[in-house]
Amino acid sequence: MRKQFTIDLVAAARPNFMKIAPLWHALAKRPWARARVIHTGQHYDYAMSQVFFEELGLPTPYANLGVGSGSHGQQTGRVLEAFEAHLVKERPDLVVVVGDVNATPAAALAAVKLHIPTAHLEAGLRSFERTMPEEINRLVTDTICDHLWTPSEDADMNLASEGIPMARVTRVGNIMIDTLLMLLPRIQKEDILEKLGLWGKGYAVVTLHRPSNVDSQESLKLLCELLLKASQKIPLVFPLHPRTRARLLEFGFMDVLAKKDAIRLLEPQPYCAFMRLVSGARIVVTDSGGVQEETSYLGTPCLTLRDNTERPITLSLGTNRLVRRETLLSELDSALDAQRSKRTIPLWDGKTAARVVQQIETVFSLS
Ligand code: UD1
Repeated sequence: MRKQFTIDLVAAARPNFMKIAPLWHALAKRPWARARVIHTGQHYDYAMSQVFFEELGLPTPYANLGVGSGSHGQQTGRVLEAFEAHLVKERPDLVVVVGDVNATPAAALAAVKLHIPTAHLEAGLRSFERTMPEEINRLVTDTICDHLWTPSEDADMNLASEGIPMARVTRVGNIMIDTLLMLLPRIQKEDILEKLGLWGKGYAVVTLHRPSNVDSQESLKLLCELLLKASQKIPLVFPLHPRTRARLLEFGFMDVLAKKDAIRLLEPQPYCAFMRLVSGARIVVTDSGGVQEETSYLGTPCLTLRDNTERPITLSLGTNRLVRRETLLSELDSALDAQRSKRTIPLWDGKTAARVVQQIETVFSLS
């Protein structure tokens, strides 16, 4: 019988699950592949983890490293140690890490030091902002991985300018869009707008969780004031990330938001319900990475409350605009006046997982 190759797909936090799901499904159809999901346990709440496994049709993780919450050093160190132990015992033929969370460089480091071929899916993105923890994670991961699978031309150019040999780089496209397309029929059937009484009404979706926005009292206070003013222009729906919820409570800002009728604070939403909210929104205000892409695909105008983005294609070809706190309200006015338009972006076609599988076949000399 032909050899089966074991491929470990490492996922840690909410956005990672959407990145491994299409690849897991594509590999499940290949007789030569045995894909295993390794959950590091960084996100562990039902609403931040398990619900996505259910919606995305992912299997129960083969292993859960149980690293939980903690400082950057703690999370990175715990993954390094626990994943190394897993690798020594279970020796896969390939490790795939995704995105830019703390587990991404940690798992890659454990694997490459054991000389296990290691690939980074969503390689090459750069915000050029080194105070952003994810930027350090991206730089470290791309420096050490054997295979760098990028979503876009800008990512290839970033890697080239860092002196990374192009033989390691392949542009495969945007894997998040595979997930979006895979679940679009279910997303369209979601009844969250009816449940929230939003159907046929104009509303904006807000998501904020970056430490640079929510971790300091001064910054979060300013953002809350802006949201209160924004809610006079359009009702806001604001699913709260656990980090944001904790900071709102700690700094005593929760009540003032919760009391406002035009602001709906929600629990973290499952993927399909959240995408339904985004697709029906007049506008999205966010500091997330993935949401910049999802809004661009769905044609929803997006105002990103950051000074930079590692996803510049969403600015040039998508619906995204970077906004500062001082300009948020005026940008909101212009975006509310603008027409919606759907965009076409190269390799956002739902076929990224298939292209990644081709790359894996090349790694194993199967093609
Ligand atoms: C992490 C990623 C970030 C990603 C985000 C998506 C890093 C450096 N950051 O940030 O890139 O955009 O996930 O959500 O890896 N918590 C819970 N339940 C959970 C998980 C977390 O309550 O299931 C709380 C904990 O109090 C924790 C806090 O949320 O301290 C922050 O979680 P953490 O995983 O450290 O970082 P995120 O802000 O989620």
